[in-house]
Amino acid sequence: MGKSLNTTTPSPLPLASSGQALKKEGAKLESIPATGENHAKGQRPLAGNAAVLETKLKNTTAKIGVVGLGYVGLPLAIEFARKGFETVGIDLDKTKVALLQKGKNYIQDIADAHVSEAVKNGSFRAQDHYTKARELDVIYICVPTPFTANKDPDISYITSAAEAIAEEWRAEDGTADGTPHAQLIILKSTTFPNTTEGAVLPILNETGKQVGEDFFLAFSPERIDPGNQKWTTANTPIVVGGVTPACTRLAVLTNQQIIEHVIAVSSPKVAEMEKLLENIFRSVNIALVNELAKLCDRMGGINMWEVVDAAATKPFGYMPFYPGPGIGGHCILIDPFYLSWQARAYDFETNFITLAAETNESMPFYVKDLVFKAVAELPIRLRDAKILVIGVAFKRDVDDTRHSPAIRVMELLMDDGAKNIAYTDPFVPQLWVKGQTLTAKPFDEATIKSADIVIIATDHTQYDYEFLVRTASCVIDTRNATQRITEPALREKIVLLGSGRRQER
Ligand SMILES: NC(=O)c1ccc[n+]([C@@H]2O[C@H](COP(=O)([O-])OP(=O)(O)OC[C@H]3O[C@@H](n4cnc5c(N)ncnc54)[C@H](O)[C@@H]3O)[C@@H](O)[C@H]2O)c1
Repeated sequence: MGKSLNTTTPSPLPLASSGQALKKEGAKLESIPATGENHAKGQRPLAGNAAVLETKLKNTTAKIGVVGLGYVGLPLAIEFARKGFETVGIDLDKTKVALLQKGKNYIQDIADAHVSEAVKNGSFRAQDHYTKARELDVIYICVPTPFTANKDPDISYITSAAEAIAEEWRAEDGTADGTPHAQLIILKSTTFPNTTEGAVLPILNETGKQVGEDFFLAFSPERIDPGNQKWTTANTPIVVGGVTPACTRLAVLTNQQIIEHVIAVSSPKVAEMEKLLENIFRSVNIALVNELAKLCDRMGGINMWEVVDAAATKPFGYMPFYPGPGIGGHCILIDPFYLSWQARAYDFETNFITLAAETNESMPFYVKDLVFKAVAELPIRLRDAKILVIGVAFKRDVDDTRHSPAIRVMELLMDDGAKNIAYTDPFVPQLWVKGQTLTAKPFDEATIKSADIVIIATDHTQYDYEFLVRTASCVIDTRNATQRITEPALREKIVLLGSGRRQER
């Protein structure tokens, strides 16, 4: 009963009605630290279906479902399984499901043993359909929220998952023993405000069930930072906003089973907007330093990396962000556009978002120009130049290449005639760029020596950058990976983005 994936782009929401609802309510923010006893104080005990679910969560008998077993969903599912909950993962990708059913892991941040143990001891299983999803007590939705070619939001993965769940509810009401079964649905996919109440809730309402009584619905955005060893699922605080107070309380309690600090806010809309603020904050601040990095190059004599580190010595009111070749991944690049798209329906231009996007999107072009200038100093043409890109994942020490600026730089160079582009990346064995399949080269003397120009696009920690610079003839460093190299003869070989070294030399 696998639901086929709707890859078309529907009109994401009836914006007028959702917008009016938002304005009318004027949602009052009431942030409750929901950990432990604080949250319970002064609250009436949950009743009916909510009380049943509460008990199941507290005694670890609740069955947890996770829809979408990617970077967000799989770590979440494995975390619940490791806490002793019977956990079922649902993903339409048969390849992923087949791997998981064999106990094989494909997400870098999860220990392989955690997946194999959870499958072996039966606490986790995966399936490529929604059959019997109605038997689960909680379902997290962790599906992609991409944008279209025109950078409009595409929430069709979310609505498709919600429809599959509703279809399951219609298929059979009640548990095996015939008692009514009230599920808690927690949407985790990053999206624009009012998706939970304006897009998911109507789909679930069509089954005739009543939110807050027959089922529960909340939004709780993900904060996972792939590759981050310090801040993990368990110790990163998380925000929750439910459609009704009971929805919020149950979603808080569910998250508390695996996360130390859970913060309740007054509505799903606040939680949806909060997540976008986090990502827009990053996008805007990265754009700011990128712009200043370009200015430093224009002015000469000021190194932007040194400037940022100096500013970061201020113990309050400042947080360092660094320049780079652009932004990538499935979050910072995409999510701000969700809000700017929605804002237009209110005759509102989100200028910060647009300006940040413009600056960040210009960075791969800027790096391409640095390559042009470097080639101009050689007795070769771009199309003959051998270019080696170091690191193609969108950020350090991860294997995720989605919207990677490194790939954008490669595409731009190919567009302008570069024919000899190779790459090395310990996490990415193969890469598809403009219809070409590229295989990673080893990070060794022969590979580096054979290149006319080396671009450090992503600063994976395992690379020996001093060896790289010693071996290469010209290195364009977009990440300050070569910062520890001080020997003048070696520094002469480095073109550092934002270093204030005038490119005309
Ligand atoms: N990756 C991150 O670091 C990160 C961080 C915070 C938030 N998010 C957000 O979390 C969401 C998921 O991101 P991700 O990186 O895990 O995506 P992903 O592409 O790694 O995983 C999504 C999974 O959902 C599956 N899927 C798609 N439609 C489905 C359906 N209808 N039913 C069942 N499975 C379906 C896909 O096959 C895929 O395995 C996005 O909204 C993203 O913006 C991601």
